[in-house]
Amino acid sequence: MSAPVGDIGLIGLAVMGQNLILNMNDKGFTVVAYNRTTSKVDDFLANEAKGTKVQGAHSIQELCAKLKRPRKIILLVKAGPAVDSFIQQLEPYLEKGDIVIDGGNSHYPDSIRRTKELEAKGLLFVGSGVSGGEEGARHGPSLMPGGSTAAWPAIKEIFQKTAAQVNGEPCCDWVGETGSGHYVKMVHNGIEYGDMQLIAEAYDILKRGLGISESEIADIFTTWNKGVLDSFLIEITANILKFNDDDGEPLVTKILDKAGQKGTGKWTAIAALDAGTAVTLIGEAVFARCLSAIKEERVRASKVINGPQRESFRGDKQQFIDDLEQALYASKIISYTQGFMLMRETAKELSWNLNYAGIARMWRGGCIIKSVFLGDITSAYEKNKDLESLLFDDFFNKAVHKAQPGWRRVIAQAVLWGIPTPAFSTALAFFDGYRSEVVPANLLQAQRDYFGAHTFRVMPGKENPRLVKDRDIHINWTGRGGNVSASSYSA
Ligand code: 6PG
Repeated sequence: MSAPVGDIGLIGLAVMGQNLILNMNDKGFTVVAYNRTTSKVDDFLANEAKGTKVQGAHSIQELCAKLKRPRKIILLVKAGPAVDSFIQQLEPYLEKGDIVIDGGNSHYPDSIRRTKELEAKGLLFVGSGVSGGEEGARHGPSLMPGGSTAAWPAIKEIFQKTAAQVNGEPCCDWVGETGSGHYVKMVHNGIEYGDMQLIAEAYDILKRGLGISESEIADIFTTWNKGVLDSFLIEITANILKFNDDDGEPLVTKILDKAGQKGTGKWTAIAALDAGTAVTLIGEAVFARCLSAIKEERVRASKVINGPQRESFRGDKQQFIDDLEQALYASKIISYTQGFMLMRETAKELSWNLNYAGIARMWRGGCIIKSVFLGDITSAYEKNKDLESLLFDDFFNKAVHKAQPGWRRVIAQAVLWGIPTPAFSTALAFFDGYRSEVVPANLLQAQRDYFGAHTFRVMPGKENPRLVKDRDIHINWTGRGGNVSASSYSA
């Protein structure tokens, strides 16, 4: 049998898989392609992969036999049981040190589990986020690999060459341990939900508030795309708004206003709740999709619930549009601040050593949230790798201060119009809460102690013989209850 020639194998010849193979082939690697329905392998070799170095395999055994050691095999199959099933099928043909890479949108707890399971068998596992859709896969995606750290030197060259490049730097670096690659991809998707919702709210304000047409809104987005908001999502939004149906009407106005979701935004919101981190903007973005989905109920409600009479805008329109740009920018800063807070918290909990500048660099190009803004986040974390919050970074601190007046004016006006701005508003509420030395949680604590003897701690500087520092205190508020606190009940 001839010596193995394959640098890497790929299982799953749907469009992402095919494009990633062709991309890796362009970068000089020999890829061995396999698909469960093997006729797809032949089709691929006879068509898209014709004239390339791509090799086909008609069985898992053949795939493994064609790969150089340590074998590297990427799975691009549906997240869930299919991944486990392929791992099981591969195992008999793998040897110590071989690497299985899951490039699907897997949930990170599965990747944590798979890393442990494969490492226990002497194999290595990498869960890699892959972002950028079909286009990214073909010409350079953002790749976010994490898992068995020993695998990185073996896959680094292939991954970094295959990824998108920004200013000569690859949008791919080692994320960290176990499930961290898929965790970071999940947060990426959550942030994607947030960015999309913010853009949708800006569109709604321009359309229903200012009464501007789709083609003019497209021009506004095109202008914004030359400034601080320069990003893929703003760019495609301008293109979408300009796109007319055959009758000349903007196609977007004919699309049913019910948003779908595959679940990665929801996972991020759940992870935030689990970690106890206030990732409010992504949460609102998920809920906004949920509210959009109950179209029929909204139609009924619109007939019986009135809002304010929407008066036409009498102020300076251009000033308001500039304010809106700032509101979008400031809200985006909050969303990313929250996303990075979440990653920090989880990293602490799971003892992951995450490289935040590296993560921002991976997101600068290739992926759906790619933007100039991510270059600024990279710089912030390069300056201080332990940055507690983006809002403590000089650049973002100044930016958010500059944006603040316009941000408030936009939300105030939207509220008066009765136009919902869940993402803009929650960003501002977080900002105002975050910058408040004192929040009304003192009252919450008093209520909890009043009705349930849940105890509270004394505010620094307010200590007295009854209110002792660093002690769980219970007060008999009514004179009726006992002096026993809830924490001293034994179950
Ligand atoms: C990416 C995208 C990709 C996909 C989302 C869409 O990074 O390339 O995030 O993963 O487009 O899964 O998610 P929803 O269907 O949940 O909007």
